[in-house]
Amino acid sequence: MSNDQRLVIRDLHVAPFGHPETEILQGIDLEVGKGEVHAIMGPNGSGKTTLAYALMGHPAYVVTKGEVHWKDRDVLKLTPDKRGRLGLFLAFQYPTAIPGLSVASFIRSALNARLLGVDRNGDVDPTDPARGGISMRDFRTKMREAFALLKMDEGFATRYVNEGFSGGEKKRLEMLQMAVLQPEMAIMDETDSGLDIDALRIVAEGVNAMLNPELGVLLITHYQRLLNYITPDVVHVLAAGRIVKSGGKDLAIRLEEEGYGPILREAGLETGVSDEALAVPIAPDEAGHEPSHPTAHGDGHAEPAGVAR
Ligand SMILES: Nc1ncnc2c1ncn2[C@@H]1O[C@H](COP(=O)(O)OP(=O)(O)O)[C@@H](O)[C@H]1O
Ligand SMILES: [Mg+2]
Repeated sequence: MSNDQRLVIRDLHVAPFGHPETEILQGIDLEVGKGEVHAIMGPNGSGKTTLAYALMGHPAYVVTKGEVHWKDRDVLKLTPDKRGRLGLFLAFQYPTAIPGLSVASFIRSALNARLLGVDRNGDVDPTDPARGGISMRDFRTKMREAFALLKMDEGFATRYVNEGFSGGEKKRLEMLQMAVLQPEMAIMDETDSGLDIDALRIVAEGVNAMLNPELGVLLITHYQRLLNYITPDVVHVLAAGRIVKSGGKDLAIRLEEEGYGPILREAGLETGVSDEALAVPIAPDEAGHEPSHPTAHGDGHAEPAGVAR
């Protein structure tokens, strides 16, 4: 596969914007090709969300070292919206509500921006089907298909983005955006968290239906249960800002049986992570709360509104 079909991450170091000396990610090497599903698993606070945010250009983080390439572009030089127009997509762990903006307008604007492409030229007019755009009718059809795929009520189209949504509904809206925008490299940050088992199955079926040779997926998850539904090609364990082990699906099964402790110790990490079993039962509710588990660090994210994908 030629290099422009792969997301290539080389020796990526990332720190919070205000504290460039305290690196959260300390040298990530990762390659994800189109058509591949890579799972990233790791204890809380290991840097999974930081990786997702750094890849999309979240302003709260700085890349202190390393490179990211995709489609023959230096991703780190691009603004988040350009990354999105280049086919990168992030499904947020904690999606933000945008009161006043309807789901349909939001997705249509995003789709129009994506259709314009990264190097806008005067030839494409997203509102004109004859010039690379999509008609209102085709857009509605696409939305209807996506709602059906994710078993969501079409009434969501007129509701405000994430306003008053349950945790499970927020995660489904992320998948709805993905279904309509059809990214080529999707980063899904704990899309399984906060879902009860039925919602998990629906979301997983939706993702499986979206998988195709033109889509690469970086599936970030704390628990292996999602991997019972979506089969990864590769599983990576992220700990203390590094990928400490990569393997096949059996690695996820080992994590479920043993917890993170043994693998982290093998990697020479003394950690406060307990050997908690990872086969965590169904999330306690759909209200968007994380299942509680021991965590060495707080979750330091402020979730600014309006980060482009
Ligand atoms: N903007 C930030 N400022 C300071 N510390 C942060 C920031 N974002 C994340 N961190 C810290 O970096 C570590 C990794 O966080 P995160 O990437 O959210 O981990 P994960 O998603 O694996 O749970 C945590 O200790 C977290 O508190
Ligand atoms: Mg996270």
